[in-house]
This record gives sequence, C-alpha cells and structure tokens, in this order.
Amino acid sequence: MVFARNQWYVAAYSQEVGDDLLARTVCGEPLVLYRTKAGEAVALTDRCVHRRYPLSESSRDGDNIVCGYHGFTYAPDGVCVAVPGQSRVPRTARVPAHQIVEQDSLVWVWIGEGEGDPDAIPRAPWLDSPDYVTVRGMEHLDARYQLLVDNLLDLSHETYLHAGYIGTPEVAETPITTEVDEDAGVIYVSRRMKDVECPSFYRESTGIEGRIDRWQDIEYHPPCLYLLHSRIAPAGVEPGPDGDDPRACHAEIVYAITPETETTTHDFWMVARDFALDDEKVSEFLAESNRTVVLQDVEALNVLEKVIASEPEGYQELSINIDTGGLAARRILQRQIAR
Ligand code: FES
Ligand SMILES: [Fe+2]
Repeated sequence: MVFARNQWYVAAYSQEVGDDLLARTVCGEPLVLYRTKAGEAVALTDRCVHRRYPLSESSRDGDNIVCGYHGFTYAPDGVCVAVPGQSRVPRTARVPAHQIVEQDSLVWVWIGEGEGDPDAIPRAPWLDSPDYVTVRGMEHLDARYQLLVDNLLDLSHETYLHAGYIGTPEVAETPITTEVDEDAGVIYVSRRMKDVECPSFYRESTGIEGRIDRWQDIEYHPPCLYLLHSRIAPAGVEPGPDGDDPRACHAEIVYAITPETETTTHDFWMVARDFALDDEKVSEFLAESNRTVVLQDVEALNVLEKVIASEPEGYQELSINIDTGGLAARRILQRQIAR
C-alpha cells in the first residue's frame, strides 16, 4: 500500500460541491460528491452495488441519487431506499458514505476505517478569512503524490524550474533549516533570504520596489496539507516585537496533496494574501502566475513519473542538504502508511 488511508484528505473545494454530482477519486476510492438541500456535503462511494454503474453518472431525486442504469435509489447515508420491480430492498444494498468535515473552504474526507477525528485536521484559516483574498486552482498530475511532496519541500528548484517567475539565484544559494516535530508529525523547513532580488511574482503583486527580505517558512502536515508562509518586506524591515508586521506583505501559499491513484495526484493550490485586497488585477496576476508555476512543476513531475516507471528495480537516488525536509516527510509518510 502506498497511501496512508487512515488520514484526512481534501477531496474538493467547498465551492465545487453543489447540486451537481461530482466524481473524484481519492486514494483509489472513487467518490461522488454533492450537497443536500440543507447544505450538507455528501461523499458516497461512486459505484452502484447492483452492477457497478457510477453514481456520478446518475441523477438526483431531491437528496437521493437514482442510479442511471436500473434505478437503485440511494439516500445521503448510502442506504438504498428503492429498487425497481420489487418492494423489498435487500438489506445489504448500501454504498459506503464517507465522513466529511468542511472547514477553511475545503472539503475534507475520511476514506479510512472507522471514524476520523475532526480535531486532527490541520487548519488553513486564511482561506476564508476576511483579512485575506485567495486565488486558487487545481491541476491533475500524472505522477505519484510523493513526487509533489519532494517538490514542495525543496524550493531550491524555484531557481531552475521557475526562473523568471518566483525563482531567483538566491533561493538555491541560501541554506535551509529543517525541524521535525515527531510527535505531531509536522515538518518545518525555513529559508530566510536577506537583501535579495525581488522576483516578478512579488514585484508586480506587492508593489514593493527594490531589494527585499524574503522568507519562505514551510509547514507540512503529512500527508495532505502543505503551507508556505511567505513574507516579503523591503530589505532590512523586521517584524515588531509582538509580531506586528505592517510594512511586510504576506502570502500564505497552500497546497492540498491528494493521491488519486498510486501514480496520479490532485494538486490543489491556493494563494491567500494580506495585501492589495481590493485589487482585482493583482488577483488575476497571482492566479495566472501561480498557475503557470504549478504547470511547470506538473510538467516536470509527469516526466519523473515516466522515468520511475521505466527504471530498473532498486535504483538509488543521491540526497544532499536541501533534501532534509523531503526525507523527513518520506519517513513520516512511511510511518502513517504502516499504521
Ligand atoms: S447498476 Fe445501478 S441500478 Fe443497476
Ligand atoms: Fe515548483
């Protein structure tokens, strides 16, 4: 098994789940997502118990789904309430209904055994805070989720893969510090650049002129939630003693890394900012630029997946200092999978 099934995963953005039936596979489990009239999000296994027809290809009757093949009808709890041609509904006629928690504009799903603990879900409060504006998107990766974890935990690749957008020479040149909270299972990787060139991504969005101090503080909550606290300030401007930081711009860059299958991934990306809140042009610019950057990663990771698929068993990588965070992530993911 390559996924940790007994974990919370982002299945969708809240705004994606509505009246229509949305098909999405999470850790190999095909799901159909929709929202009841009362506004509750529902996630059922997307496979009719009768002849496996996808419920996502079916239609709704109020809060129920009527299978598009022969009409088995399912309530939001997954129980079949009607079948054609007979009044008795077989007792075993039900599809799994998966536990859902909706918070921070994300739809989290539990596809594992038993009940998940909602308090164990990591938070990303900026995403629906009135003090921030968020742009977001989702790309499909033809690559295993572990490659995206590696990618996001080592931002030195920005210099090479994202030159001209978010990459400048100093990203790769500046060493990182890595801390792992083994008990909580959280990885922190920090890179603080002093008096450096401002990449166009931040120059055009923040309006800060000249050289900057640029902080990249990563917080990864395996398996699914990745936070990059990005601080951009005019060179030499430090936060105040009680953490107030009015002269700096902050971007909270959030990824939800959701395995679809063993070798494909849903790459949810969000950029929440606390500057230029009313500037629609800045929103458009950040959405467009970030999508471009994400697609550069997607292209590279899709290539890597092909390389991995064609290589002989037992190939050994070589790791250096920049990989410390990624290696810690692999360790924690392995632990979660074994559990
Ligand atoms: S496959 Fe769904 S009712 Fe037959
Ligand atoms: Fe990247």
